[in-house]
Amino acid sequence: MQRQWKTRRTIGLILIIISAYLFIKVSNYEHKASVFLYNVHPNEPWEFVADFSNMKYLNPTIINFSITAESGNYNHWNYSTEYSEKLSHWPYLPNQAVAHFQIKANHEDNIYFIHSIHKTCMFMNLYCLYSESVFKFSKSNRTNGAQCEETIHYQCPVFLKPFCQREVLHQRHLIMDNLKKKFTK
Ligand SMILES: *[C@@H]1O[C@H](CO)[C@@H](O)[C@H](O)[C@H]1NC(C)=O
Ligand SMILES: *[C@@H]1O[C@H](CO)[C@@H](O)[C@H](O)[C@H]1NC(C)=O
Ligand SMILES: *[C@@H]1O[C@H](CO)[C@@H](O)[C@H](O)[C@H]1NC(C)=O
Repeated sequence: MQRQWKTRRTIGLILIIISAYLFIKVSNYEHKASVFLYNVHPNEPWEFVADFSNMKYLNPTIINFSITAESGNYNHWNYSTEYSEKLSHWPYLPNQAVAHFQIKANHEDNIYFIHSIHKTCMFMNLYCLYSESVFKFSKSNRTNGAQCEETIHYQCPVFLKPFCQREVLHQRHLIMDNLKKKFTK
């Protein structure tokens, strides 16, 4: 009896260590997405995306948010936000995120940036992952319109890679699609 119990305990311990290891071993991944908006000046989608209250329209996985800090002026401003999101491929696990945004404009070259760093936590903030996004809006040199490109670097536990990829792909696709809908005149 005694030995059986010990074996069970050892197996339990090994399983805990393996699952901890699976979650701790994170890797960095990249995703790029873009959309072209005809007959739109790049500062229009830039202003729209920079306003976090429009993010709920662009990305319906965001449930609610609050702005926690703000500073700067029209050409360079920063804000921080806390938001909750419901992952579309894992709706049972709402997670909390904190994000810091930097919004910059270069009016001479008609290039506009939204840079953001996100810390997304789950399991009552015990487990957090980081991601970084650079959203660039520039004036097309050939066709009248705005080229909108986003590059995201995100962390994901290696064993959940397919899940993270699907989630990021789904969200970013929605955002670009909704942006296109919003600015189709
Ligand atoms: C915005 O944040 C960056 C990085 O934290 C900082 O270097 C910059 O001075 C801030 N700008 C404004 C306008 O608050
Ligand atoms: C969003 O709503 C949930 C549930 O009502 C709440 O627990 C959470 O604190 C809210 N998040 C923010 C950023 O307001
Ligand atoms: C337009 O041309 C400028 C100068 O050559 C370049 O820096 C910019 O990236 C080009 N814009 C696009 C959208 O290709």
